[in-house]
Amino acid sequence: MKLLYPSSWEDYELIDSGDGEKLERFGKYILIRPEPQAIWERSKDQLEWKRLAHAHFSREQSDKFRFTDEVKGGWKKLKEIPESWQVNYQHNKLNLILRLALTGFGHVGVFPEQGENWNFIFDTISGWNLSKPKVLNLFAYTGAASIVARTAGAEVTHVDASRPGLNWANQNMQLNQQTDIRWVYEDAFKFVKREAKRGNKYRGIIMDPPPYGRGPDGEKWTLHEQLNGLVKVSRQLLEEGQSFFILSMYAVGLSATVGLNVVKTHFTPNDPEFGEFYLRSKQERNLPMGTFVRFKFS
Ligand SMILES: C[S@@+](CC[C@H](N)C(=O)[O-])C[C@H]1O[C@@H](n2cnc3c(N)ncnc32)[C@H](O)[C@@H]1O
Repeated sequence: MKLLYPSSWEDYELIDSGDGEKLERFGKYILIRPEPQAIWERSKDQLEWKRLAHAHFSREQSDKFRFTDEVKGGWKKLKEIPESWQVNYQHNKLNLILRLALTGFGHVGVFPEQGENWNFIFDTISGWNLSKPKVLNLFAYTGAASIVARTAGAEVTHVDASRPGLNWANQNMQLNQQTDIRWVYEDAFKFVKREAKRGNKYRGIIMDPPPYGRGPDGEKWTLHEQLNGLVKVSRQLLEEGQSFFILSMYAVGLSATVGLNVVKTHFTPNDPEFGEFYLRSKQERNLPMGTFVRFKFS
């Protein structure tokens, strides 16, 4: 079991957490956002948080410790903050630029805990001596992993059920001076089943399924009910030989061993890595941010 966190990221910092919230810096801007897992007390006092922060996304009080995607609340600007801005992420020869913005769900367009996966994707693809290996990114959100794979030389298929998300990912691709990512606006499971029927194969499969979601035609995604089926069909899409697979999940209450068991049901990796992602803070109360399972065949 591994505990991984994004290390030495100048543009991101978890400053503090507690009382159902977290205080984070993304580049020059500091934000307060809900964090239902932070059931401990904050270490800096609340006035200090407000003094530091540029914007505060607050949930309705009664909702504070509830785990739900349907966050009721909104942003309150405490200082000047632009509509959107950029952050950089560096790792070896990777210099990733990401566009951030304050969204209505309290998201900003990046999940910083994914940094360790970006390193894995970049290093794995760069280490292969393959011309344009194909990589599939499911539930791909604003596309950080897609762009990392593309930058490392992959031919990338990016699947997501949100049009604004696809537009955002396209903007991120352009910011990184990349081209030719294949954008697919479709239910992830439906797409995977169709690819299996067509006999298409990929050298890398990345999936970051949410606990619940909807496809463009209202297809219902429920992680607990469908993850096993999705991983089962994905097995048919992964090339023999050099290849990799990454599953990450932010589903509170699901241990990393759950993901590992699902993956081991359908794949036979020698030494899968699995564990928890977290965000490190100087206050020594690190935030757990979901689980991962990943492996590569070389
Ligand atoms: C990246 S995941 C979120 C992961 C994050 N760790 C979390 O749970 O908050 C969410 C993405 O999945 C997409 N999504 C949700 N349901 C989907 C579906 N049925 N098919 C394809 N994409 C879907 C959403 O549009 C969104 O971009």
